[in-house]
Amino acid sequence: MSTPLNINRRNSSALYKKAKEVITGGVSRNTIYRRPHPFYVAKANGSYVTDIDANTRIDFANNMASLIHGHAHPVVNEAVISQLQRGTAYTMGTGIEVEFAELLTERNKNFEKIRFVNSGTEAVMAMIKASRAYTGKAKIAKAEGAYHGTYDFAEISQIVKPENWGNIDQPNPVPVTYGTPKGVLNDVVVFPYNDTERTIKLLEANKADLACVLLDPVSHRVGLFPIEEDYLVAIYNWTRKNKVLLVFDEVVTYRVAYSGAQELYPVTPDMTALGKIIGGGFPVGAIAGNADVMSVFDPTRKVIKQPHSGTFSANPITMTAGKVAMELFDKQGVDDINNITNIAKNQLRDVIKEADVPVVITGAGSMFRFHLRHNEPRSHRETYQNPEEIKLIKEILDYLFYHEDLMMINTFACMFATTITQVEVDRLTEALFNAFKKYKKEIHSFAK
Ligand SMILES: Cc1ncc(COP(=O)(O)O)c(C=O)c1O
Repeated sequence: MSTPLNINRRNSSALYKKAKEVITGGVSRNTIYRRPHPFYVAKANGSYVTDIDANTRIDFANNMASLIHGHAHPVVNEAVISQLQRGTAYTMGTGIEVEFAELLTERNKNFEKIRFVNSGTEAVMAMIKASRAYTGKAKIAKAEGAYHGTYDFAEISQIVKPENWGNIDQPNPVPVTYGTPKGVLNDVVVFPYNDTERTIKLLEANKADLACVLLDPVSHRVGLFPIEEDYLVAIYNWTRKNKVLLVFDEVVTYRVAYSGAQELYPVTPDMTALGKIIGGGFPVGAIAGNADVMSVFDPTRKVIKQPHSGTFSANPITMTAGKVAMELFDKQGVDDINNITNIAKNQLRDVIKEADVPVVITGAGSMFRFHLRHNEPRSHRETYQNPEEIKLIKEILDYLFYHEDLMMINTFACMFATTITQVEVDRLTEALFNAFKKYKKEIHSFAK
């Protein structure tokens, strides 16, 4: 490993030793684990994070794409502090929940009704259960490689490899977690993203049992390239014809356009799962969509098809932070962040050329991902990273973290915040140029 051990890390190293004593593996989410130990934060502001050993880094991960305004935004903070003094959660409703619901439903005409939950995983789970409750059918269809959180059904085939992914005409449903019940595997139809013919064939073969088709319009793990319009329209038309729901996971992609990435396509999903940025830095999720479909949650109905609660759902801290953050992320805010991201991508493509490395960039809106490839991938199997590639990417990311003082998402992706300016973009460009020069030989020896 090329990790330099001469950087300041004494305090983080000592804290990790303690953490391992009481937390399994020393971390509550595997995402933050890194060798030889995770780093612990002392403070963060805007796009800069300082750890407890006084190393300051530029943040291009933004808590896994959830902090659209970076860290400790003063307007969000002020509103949250004011709410904190009036309580954090009650066994009663609050006006701020209604105001935030109004704001989000006004932003997107497909969101006739909304419900708040506490995470993206929970939103996707509730959406899948609502699809079953509404249609009376059990199966869901999802794309190979797509990450939708950790609900049993949603996580099938998120991690696959050539040894187990099966024939592309009928991809295997591959469990992520040991002990996943067979019944779960039987109720998930896995299809290849952006492959119309195969996907429609698979949907046809299962149409009698399908409750919903679950799609992320720019799936990060599939490869962070936008879904192709013809493909999406074909699936949409198929769902209309066969009375199967089309449900979107926009937990990450809501940032792409003012009403979410769905704004860019001529389709109307029946429901959409939201999360990440709409929490303004606090844990959140939401399900939004067609009023008739969403009525399965309705406690005023004689039959409540999907009883649905959650101790901290719509708590006023999250609602306050989310509302302020989304007010700040208005049409201009979305345009500005997308523009600076485009500038970054152009500069990065220039240094890729200059460094002469086979690297391509995919993405949409304020997010992008590097691939060690000659050509842009357009399917998950083309994006697939074998263990060797994962090792090299880890080395590059470690180099960026330790030598260039910047943080990215571990798939080699950046999720921008509105606090990123030309200064941070130039630093990113320079750092990547250095990294590409340093690892040029390795990238060449292995890029497909
Ligand atoms: C597309 C997508 N869906 C769902 C989730 C799950 O969200 P959460 O981590 O809030 O449970 C994530 C998280 O990264 C995600 O990227």
